[in-house]
Amino acid sequence: MAFSILAYHAASKHSFSRYADGPGFLDWETQPDPFRRYEGSPEIPLALPPDEPGPGYERLWDRPPDPAPLSRLSLSRFLYESLALSAWKQAPHAPPWSLRVNPSSGNLHPTEGYLLLPPLPGIESAGVFHYSPLRHSLEARRLLRADQWEELAAGLPPGAFFVGLSTIYWREAWKYGERAFRYCHHDLGHALGTLAFSARIRGWRALLLPAVGEAELASLLALEDQRGPEAEHADCLLGIFPDRCRPPEEAVRSFRLPSTLLAALRGLPPLGKPNRLSPDHVRWPLLERAIASAAYPGGWPGEPAPPPLPVPPVVRPQPSEGASLLLRRRRSALAMDGKTPIPRESFLRLLSQLLPRGDGFPFALLPWRPRVSVLFFVHRVGGLAPGLYLLLRSPAHEAPLRRELRPEFAWQAPPGFPEALPFRRLALGDFREAAAKISCYQTIASGGCFALAMLADLSGVGEQPWFYPRLFWECGLLGQLLYLGAEAAGLQGTGIGCYFDDALHDLAGIRGLPWQSLYHFAVGRGVPDRRLQSRPAYAHLARSPG
Ligand SMILES: Cc1cc2nc3c(=O)[nH]c(=O)nc-3n(C[C@H](O)[C@H](O)[C@H](O)COP(=O)(O)O)c2cc1C
Repeated sequence: MAFSILAYHAASKHSFSRYADGPGFLDWETQPDPFRRYEGSPEIPLALPPDEPGPGYERLWDRPPDPAPLSRLSLSRFLYESLALSAWKQAPHAPPWSLRVNPSSGNLHPTEGYLLLPPLPGIESAGVFHYSPLRHSLEARRLLRADQWEELAAGLPPGAFFVGLSTIYWREAWKYGERAFRYCHHDLGHALGTLAFSARIRGWRALLLPAVGEAELASLLALEDQRGPEAEHADCLLGIFPDRCRPPEEAVRSFRLPSTLLAALRGLPPLGKPNRLSPDHVRWPLLERAIASAAYPGGWPGEPAPPPLPVPPVVRPQPSEGASLLLRRRRSALAMDGKTPIPRESFLRLLSQLLPRGDGFPFALLPWRPRVSVLFFVHRVGGLAPGLYLLLRSPAHEAPLRRELRPEFAWQAPPGFPEALPFRRLALGDFREAAAKISCYQTIASGGCFALAMLADLSGVGEQPWFYPRLFWECGLLGQLLYLGAEAAGLQGTGIGCYFDDALHDLAGIRGLPWQSLYHFAVGRGVPDRRLQSRPAYAHLARSPG
């Protein structure tokens, strides 16, 4: 019988009686190198930008800033605020480890990033460049002639370039075994989030080019010959455009890689050889089947996404911290203080940022109607009684969720909350213990202001298995908004990939497909671990600021 990605979904659930299959211990001998290098490829170092605040975080939802010209320096800043290192941490008597602007489950960082650029001063040749976060540099993998770049970017506005993302599953599988597929795609969604924000700060717009299939992307990114557990799997291509002259939606949706260019590239050996990440590997057949089954052929049959919701501003805009600083300062809370509440206004602001609205930033990056709504465990929110609440991210979710969730749920607009906000009270009560228990007994889910579960509509995933990872991208993007919104509110967030799937479903009344919880999250006042020392991200590079 053909393998179904839904079988993977069921088998990779954690439950009170059984965790999804994983190694059960950490084999430090085979810990994967978090940094891919392409040995022997020409390296282009990028200047280290001085830390600047950038435009106010809340202002990003207003008009986009004037577009920055495309240059080696603006690209350096773009990467510095999206995929770069953010700090080094060290515990007493232990080797240091690095953190990045984009978070990752277990800090294992399976996502690799590529830039596809026109010829630019200081970069000289058009080409495909792997980004090295460790060295904040570009490694050339393919050089393109000017006419090949013209062919690739035909019809796109001047100043356009591309970002490619790929995944090394082994990095997450080393620690998490079969559940790794989910975490890799959460992480990819978080990276989409940091790229979307970093683009917005520079007046650019990041949009997924959804018709590009994995095999053609692998050829373009020079990944097609990689095999084995350390292979990078090509996931997606983004177009980055000056926001005010971005191409029409239809052109974005139908963008394909030119077959003549791909044919020419397939005959050329790529530059550089991938470094080895681990001396040995453990194979996870279920994970391998999930990867194969969810491979995306390209072509994008999806319906056009509906326009953003006409949600009026629910809170007064207020001056907020610079978005560039927030992006680089973001950290996961390791523990929550168990007492600090989030003020009502900050909570409302966060809720409204989770909805597709305004000019579509950032959710129009994903060209499908929202498939994820959010179930909140409210613990300490100003003006809101503790309990279970639901944020409906699409009007189309209300009827099916009303049918699916517990019949006793109230579905009432909370008193004193704006009517226009699709936020409903389901049940009152103290859900702190339940939230922690469901989240693999992690107290970050009970000790914060709120925790949440992202409920995704898996309809059609059996027939179009490549949509399954995309649901995690949507969850990861939401997670990135929560991380940043929490920081903007003076709090912190933590992604929660470890939770007991069906325990959450039982609590909510979900009896099976299509609604499933795909990601959890907690927001609160983090308690720092005072034993950890922090060092600047790039002290190891003797490179002058740009
Ligand atoms: C998809 C995902 C799942 C995560 N799951 C958990 C979790 O279950 N428990 C936890 O304490 N942290 C979790 N984290 C937080 C990561 O451990 C954290 O992002 C990583 O250590 C890097 O640290 P940073 O976020 O401060 O950069 C998760 C993060 C992501 C992106």
